[in-house]
Amino acid sequence: MSPRFDLSALLADLTLEEKASLVSGQGFWWTRKVERVGLPSIMVSDGPHGLRKQEQSTDHVGIGGSVPATCFPTACALGSSWDVDLVRRVGVAIAEEARGQGIGVVLGPGINIKRSPLCGRNFEYLAEDPLVAGVLGAALVEGIQSLGVGTSLKHYAVNNQEADRLRVSADVDDRTLREIYLAGFERVVRQAAPWTVMCSYNRINGVYASQDRWLLTEVLRDEWGFDGLVVSDWGAVDDPVAAVAAGLDLEMPSTGGASARKVAAAVSRGDLPEDVLDLAIGRLVTLLERALPGVESDDSYDADAHHELARLVARECAVLLKNDGGLLPLDAGAGRLAVIGEFARSPRFQGAGSSKVNPTRVDDALTALRAGVGAGVTLDFAPGFGVDDPDVDDAALLAEAVETAAGADTVVLFLGLPASYESEGYDREHIDLPAEQQAVLAAVAGVNDRVVVVLANGSVVGVADWDHHAGAILEGWLGGQAGGGAIADLLLGVANPSGRLTETVPLRLEDTPAYLNFPGEDRHVLYGEGVHVGYRHYDAVGRDVSYPFGHGLSYTTFEHSDLAATVLEPGGEPASWLGAPRISVSVTVTNTGTVAGQEVVQVYLGDPEAAVRRPVRELKAFAKVALDPGESQRVDLVLTERDLSYWSTRAGGWVLEPGTFEVAVGASSRDLRLTATVEVEGPRPTFPLDRNSTLAEWLDHPVGHEILLDSLRQSPLGDLTSLLDNPEQLRMIGSFPMSRLATMLGDAMGDDEVDALLAKVQG
Ligand code: BGC
Repeated sequence: MSPRFDLSALLADLTLEEKASLVSGQGFWWTRKVERVGLPSIMVSDGPHGLRKQEQSTDHVGIGGSVPATCFPTACALGSSWDVDLVRRVGVAIAEEARGQGIGVVLGPGINIKRSPLCGRNFEYLAEDPLVAGVLGAALVEGIQSLGVGTSLKHYAVNNQEADRLRVSADVDDRTLREIYLAGFERVVRQAAPWTVMCSYNRINGVYASQDRWLLTEVLRDEWGFDGLVVSDWGAVDDPVAAVAAGLDLEMPSTGGASARKVAAAVSRGDLPEDVLDLAIGRLVTLLERALPGVESDDSYDADAHHELARLVARECAVLLKNDGGLLPLDAGAGRLAVIGEFARSPRFQGAGSSKVNPTRVDDALTALRAGVGAGVTLDFAPGFGVDDPDVDDAALLAEAVETAAGADTVVLFLGLPASYESEGYDREHIDLPAEQQAVLAAVAGVNDRVVVVLANGSVVGVADWDHHAGAILEGWLGGQAGGGAIADLLLGVANPSGRLTETVPLRLEDTPAYLNFPGEDRHVLYGEGVHVGYRHYDAVGRDVSYPFGHGLSYTTFEHSDLAATVLEPGGEPASWLGAPRISVSVTVTNTGTVAGQEVVQVYLGDPEAAVRRPVRELKAFAKVALDPGESQRVDLVLTERDLSYWSTRAGGWVLEPGTFEVAVGASSRDLRLTATVEVEGPRPTFPLDRNSTLAEWLDHPVGHEILLDSLRQSPLGDLTSLLDNPEQLRMIGSFPMSRLATMLGDAMGDDEVDALLAKVQG
């Protein structure tokens, strides 16, 4: 398709003031237009799990109303589906609604890492693991963009808390950045090419993300090849001139002309090259080229079909944490069923803030259960507790709940976090369920030993204090507008649970990796746990958890067998940005139960002997497979060079160390059914030597080793290689930089000798 706009003609035609005006928005939701040159504007809209189109330019945190749209399961739920195709379908449906509303860019997905369960926005994020976040984030982008609607991958980067989010500096080392906090973004950018990326509010190592040239230009564009537009989070720009210079293309929302004036003045003064401003305009024009056909379409969508899809998706997201004695599924044919908990009739299905959707309709589990059980079932309901309602009589509600539970065959108790507990803008202070809810559970369990707990929450809640009261626990997350129906389907066995945790459920908040460094103080938060986030931490310190990453039960059982892990020879062109395939993994999965179900095959990799401290094991590949009873399937997955590598700060790049790797396949990070050890061959990584390289590093260097030994042999004091003969002594002096040893050896090895040796190594 030929472009609509002639960029060079436009750039020649636009005045400096017009150019400067284009790098900030118009109102809350529109890019700026310049009618004089025929440049239109487009509308953008939140958010990741459904559209939040605000008719009026009122606000961006969900206070003002929005056009009705399908509220799909939130990201915490979607993440638990581990289902790439399903997530892509959600993307397509959101894009249909966006086209119907004339929206050019959907402001999502959010793929920040769940660093702490306390983060108020965890419900908007997919996982504590960058592979899951990246793979599913890419699927959402691909789905939305397949219909010609843009996405905004957010919040780039290291935005893992709400406390002080507009100022806090996330202080994090390079390796952790690359392996954990940037890895998901890299995957989505390289694989799915989002049309826009939204930079985050926070600072990273002291620099605002919106003004970080390294982040926005060197890494995002130069390394990863991003060719889209960088938009600021709403209000994230501190200095608009520094932002444009760093690679930000669009500041949102409008600043009423103030930013434009500053940018124009900076160009006039010669402080900001006009070329740099032109680049930003070029990217805005590219976005318009991409988005306008969709914006101008007069598409509509089928709200009923989308509601059905939302129900289907929510079924795949819920995680069956526990099911002692096969308490679930419920007997839908006969008996007395007590349904307790306000959430059963007033579901909490999404979070608060900018992602809040005005749903087209809402299903509650109570109605769906009533509709789903047969005539032989007597269903009684008691609210049990109030939700964010200080006027209720807790004691009376508890007494009624106990009475309802006492005569029932089974109790289904709907518990969860009130909306006030978790939201954009602030973090949680603890991970407990409200005390009144725990009291109802304990009391109900006192009169009935068949209690099923259904949870509604956007990030994990502690279960250790009450787990023993529940025979079964179904984690329903914030399952979207059709979540109530989906929960009923799962409870009644119409559907089989297949979600798996993408966030560890810890025993105690104190056990969590960031506990001592969250949310920081004095405008800084130290990412002191490094790469050991989530399960990487619990495994490294050998700590018990309530439910591990990757865990989730089914109404059927699966067997894993015949693991084959084969090393592939390197060579040829890298297959993709991930490098060449290096280990192929095959495993057979069999449904050994009596109902159809889905297993998530998870492949973890460990590198027990590494130059840096690597996690015990890390998820490197996964696949969700659907199997009928008795059916088997061979699952083939490939691990690439990147999967085997770590980020070396010293080398400033990814490093693959040859040696032993451990491949483990299982049903969760702690339910590893099969393991294999493989030997990967290849050249040992070398790091450039410099004046401060240590004696040990010289001896370890393939070229430097001999050069150093020669020099020691020929020292004016005689052959000094004998200094290296004693292992203890070598261990002690091995850590000395050569420049320091040279000074200490004085005449024996002049200071210049180190430079001479370095020249030989390079020569
Ligand atoms: C949020 C973004 C959102 C934007 C627009 C900000 O407060 O952090 O996620 O897209 O508002 O509503």
